[in-house]
Amino acid sequence: MSPTLPSHDKLATPVGTTLERYIMRKQAEFPFATGELSQLLRDLALASKIMVREVSRAGLSGMGEVVEAEGQPTAPRHRLGEEAHIRFVRALTNGRECCAILSEAREEIIDTGNHDGKYVVALNPMNGSVSLDFNVSTGTIFSIYRRVSRYGGPARAEDFTQGGRAQVAAGYILYGSSVMLVYTTGHGVAGFTYEPSLGEFFLSHPRLTIPARGAVFSCNEGNWFDFPEFARTFLTTCKQRRYTARYVGSLAADFHRNLFTGGIYLYPPTGEWPSGKLRLLYECYPIAFISQQAGGLAVAGATEVLDVPPTADLHQRVPLFVGSADLVRELQAVAG
Ligand code: F6P
Repeated sequence: MSPTLPSHDKLATPVGTTLERYIMRKQAEFPFATGELSQLLRDLALASKIMVREVSRAGLSGMGEVVEAEGQPTAPRHRLGEEAHIRFVRALTNGRECCAILSEAREEIIDTGNHDGKYVVALNPMNGSVSLDFNVSTGTIFSIYRRVSRYGGPARAEDFTQGGRAQVAAGYILYGSSVMLVYTTGHGVAGFTYEPSLGEFFLSHPRLTIPARGAVFSCNEGNWFDFPEFARTFLTTCKQRRYTARYVGSLAADFHRNLFTGGIYLYPPTGEWPSGKLRLLYECYPIAFISQQAGGLAVAGATEVLDVPPTADLHQRVPLFVGSADLVRELQAVAG
């Protein structure tokens, strides 16, 4: 008997668009694009693939351990968070398009030595790392700017403080039940799912949009008695309407879920974090850019997150309310 071949239908199914092909196709749509930004996106994808391997082995390899960060003895970090920092810095440095990096894992700007590079990258290499030991979803969040400092020399702080609307690209990688890379260059939001057996990201969500209204709220309710009055009033209404509470405690994961279901993520000021907890440059700006491109809204109070002026503190924290536009506006109305 001859061996059974896969059915014609199965063979006829196209393998799909890889991230690589998608990036090239998009680049070709811009006549003056020179490919540098595309290379940067590839570098980020490469580092994320290495991290996919490490995250999936975290339980076996002791990656949840707390370690001393290189040159930062006062800031103990999870080994996996530290490894993510090193991997992303290395990939961006080797790719040569990125002149400097601002990482959540380091106080100072990192000079990659690529002084002819036109771009700088701000990133949180591994958010939600407090939950790493427990197999909970984590993420990498990034934001890309074209530098304003002179090419040929080192980058300056002003390259990172151009404001949210100057971002040329932003995205996140979510290490969850499957791994996804979601990014925007200001022309909508595309999502790619990682196929581990092929080692490739495939386009799975060509145009992600967030439902205008949702019935999910995501916040750390343990802070209830520290929340400002308007946040408690808004959340009480959500509960009266029998909305669903969902909170992972990793911004990329919470935002990603709400992007699909509709909903709102809140991190208001609290007693411990009077200015909010999340970082403007590498958490709030990129998530706000993606949310805007997906039809959602991100505010830090009365102001849209993308319009919050950055201060000289590159690790500045702000409050964050992001998700379905109608819900975010309702929260703003309660805040007055
Ligand atoms: O990066 C900060 C962060 O870990 C976010 O990813 C997350 O949403 C939030 O802090 C969780 O904070 P908390 O543990 O206070 O709920």
